[in-house]
Amino acid sequence: MRSIIIPLAFALSILVCHIQAQDFTKLQWSDCGSPSAVISNIDLTPMPVYNPGPASITIKIELKKPVKTVGVNINIIRTVSGITLPVRCYIVNGANVGSCNYTDLCTFLKSIWDDFKPETCSPVLLDYGIDCTCPFNISPILLDLNNLPLDLPDASQSAASFMASGNFDIKVAVFEGAPLASPSYGCARVQLTVKQKK
Ligand SMILES: *[C@@H]1O[C@H](CO)[C@@H](O)[C@H](O)[C@H]1NC(C)=O
Repeated sequence: MRSIIIPLAFALSILVCHIQAQDFTKLQWSDCGSPSAVISNIDLTPMPVYNPGPASITIKIELKKPVKTVGVNINIIRTVSGITLPVRCYIVNGANVGSCNYTDLCTFLKSIWDDFKPETCSPVLLDYGIDCTCPFNISPILLDLNNLPLDLPDASQSAASFMASGNFDIKVAVFEGAPLASPSYGCARVQLTVKQKK
């Protein structure tokens, strides 16, 4: 009997967890106030997304105004095992991760991304007039990334361990200059499920 009961209990516990978690099967997004941008699509597949693992991102956003310095305010709320808590801003190895303010996204990227320099700048960025020098100086353009492959690193082994699993409600507000001190440029809210690959 034991051999049947244990798998049954296991299956039940999975079912219960599943019901509690209400995992997203498609990324949900909404516009939370974008005077200078028109957001027409944001997607991330597969959903739930597994880490580590491959994923694809789709973004279609029309930038209507030039922007020199990009300030970002990120707010993350995480739900795991039915408990919803805001994620705070963590400083790990000198880099901010989580619900943080970034006064200049370009300088931040430079500090965490070794290849963010003119000699090794990604062609994807170059296509959008970003040459890996700061400030960004972005011109009005249609950001149109269609199923761009991403290799999600093992978040549990990194500074972003709080992102390793759970349901996330993430608000990303973009500003022309320092976040909240300057006029808002655009804002997107996304909701997604991240699972740890076993
Ligand atoms: C981000 O900046 C705003 C406005 O200055 C502030 O209210 C908020 O607490 C800051 N968030 C963090 C995580 O420092």
